[in-house]
Amino acid sequence: MNDGGQRRYGPLGTTLVIIPTYNEAENIKPIVARVRKAVPEAHVLVADDNSPDGTGKLADELASDDAHVHVLHRKGKEGLGAAYLAGFRWGLENGYGVLVEMDADGSHQPEELPRLLTALKGADLVLGSRWVPGGRVVNWPKSRELLSRGGSTYSRLMLDVPIRDVTGGFRAFRRETLEGLGMEEVASQGYCFQVDLAWRAVKAGFHVVEVPITFVERELGDSKMSRDIVAEALWRVTSWGVGSRVARALGRESGPQEPGRPA
Ligand code: GDD
Ligand code: MN
Repeated sequence: MNDGGQRRYGPLGTTLVIIPTYNEAENIKPIVARVRKAVPEAHVLVADDNSPDGTGKLADELASDDAHVHVLHRKGKEGLGAAYLAGFRWGLENGYGVLVEMDADGSHQPEELPRLLTALKGADLVLGSRWVPGGRVVNWPKSRELLSRGGSTYSRLMLDVPIRDVTGGFRAFRRETLEGLGMEEVASQGYCFQVDLAWRAVKAGFHVVEVPITFVERELGDSKMSRDIVAEALWRVTSWGVGSRVARALGRESGPQEPGRPA
């Protein structure tokens, strides 16, 4: 990570809050309403994987009443990573200056978004963080907390990323950051997508800032976390870590690159 203090950051353009959904029928309308209230100038993109419970149709209803709400209908469940990549592409093509990642289930509180956006004025990427001082989780079972803390610690050590909450999914990117990450090469499908992008941002030399958040466990609907998602994360993070160590030992990795250049 570079110091950022000497960099000059351009003004933030219009914000697009991307909300990936799979079976979030109870949550989608309330969460979009909260985003619209918390950051009225921002736009929302719901990226729905053809949810069997009709989330996509509810999102269409919102979009037909509100010019700030958009829907990306995807053909089937392809994972959080694929949904975000499609959402980012849509946002970049449509000229947004800031792209936000946020869960649909209320775990990420829209009311905290202005704080993330304020921090982005002096950063390339802002991560909402549960594991920095001031950050916390509410109503999470101990087993989930251990998995998340363990996953972050393992990733931090394997990949040498100086980030406490590297798996979190409440984030704000400048468009230039996404353009400089090498997004085309991302293959992560599940939640390790989050680790993948944070690691790429650090490697590309972007200034990454963690802002404390309060993560509130969902009250409605079910988590999509699964054994397969954990397994994918474990093997990918391990193979990235081993691969970069081998490359370093062979002198093929030249350290952080200039900001804005692909990793
Ligand atoms: N489109 C799409 N496709 N959306 C998905 C998919 C998918 O395959 N899988 C999950 N989602 C959506 C959910 O509908 C929800 O809006 C969001 O992604 C997060 O899913 P949850 O199932 O609620 O995640 P979690 O609470 O278990 O996981 C939390 O921890 C992860 C690992 O730390 C969140 O903070 C994640 O953002 C985080 O990556
Ligand atoms: Mn959740």
